[in-house]
Amino acid sequence: MTRQRKRVVVLISGRGSNMAALIEAAKEGAYPAEIVGVVTDNPGAEGLKIAEANGLPTETLARTDFPNRPAHEAALEETLRGFDAEIVALAGYMRLLSPAFVGRWAGKLLNIHPALLPCFTGLDTHRRALEAGVRVHGCTVHFVTAAMDDGPIVAQAAVPVLVGDDEASLSARVLKAEHRLYPMALALVCRDEASMTGNGTVFALPGTEHNPRILVSPAFSDAIQNVEDLARFTP
Ligand code: GRF
Repeated sequence: MTRQRKRVVVLISGRGSNMAALIEAAKEGAYPAEIVGVVTDNPGAEGLKIAEANGLPTETLARTDFPNRPAHEAALEETLRGFDAEIVALAGYMRLLSPAFVGRWAGKLLNIHPALLPCFTGLDTHRRALEAGVRVHGCTVHFVTAAMDDGPIVAQAAVPVLVGDDEASLSARVLKAEHRLYPMALALVCRDEASMTGNGTVFALPGTEHNPRILVSPAFSDAIQNVEDLARFTP
């Protein structure tokens, strides 16, 4: 029996490299999601060109075209409904969403953050990681809740911080991990193998009712295609 692919809309504000990674993943017939549209708040977002080159419908909702945040969000909501979105993937979307909006999409709204949450929420994560002298850094895909860069963790990828790293080299290493992690995490959610309940994420892992947070190293992610593979790498 073929499983229905989930309809995913990606929200971007800039470069769109994570969006591109999701688009590429969804070109695989067995991938459990199809990217049905891309929405931006930034008319100059470079990622729009990538979306269009892939034949995807795009919608630009420039913040300046709306009198206030509720009006902007109402337009976003309408656009998402127009796409018949089941899951919304934030990929470098630089606008905070209201608690009401987040509440309506609870468990269906994902974000990728360039740090191992709960460390380094907010901006400039790579500079701050270097300043803090951490030896391990990475990225996190999490369900979005009302608090910024908060919300139940779906998956994380860790990368080393190497001697001589600067912001550019570290962010490039993390970004490479992001491009592998986000498609994997989105697939987990679209297969209902990771879902948000209360304050946590529940993983439908074989033989377990509940699994704690998962840390997936990029070294493993080639091997991880489904939840059975994932179970091999979790305690
Ligand atoms: C990524 O580092 C992502 O983690 C963060 O914003 C950046 C967006 O990059 N939320 P891109 O637009 O996906 O290239």
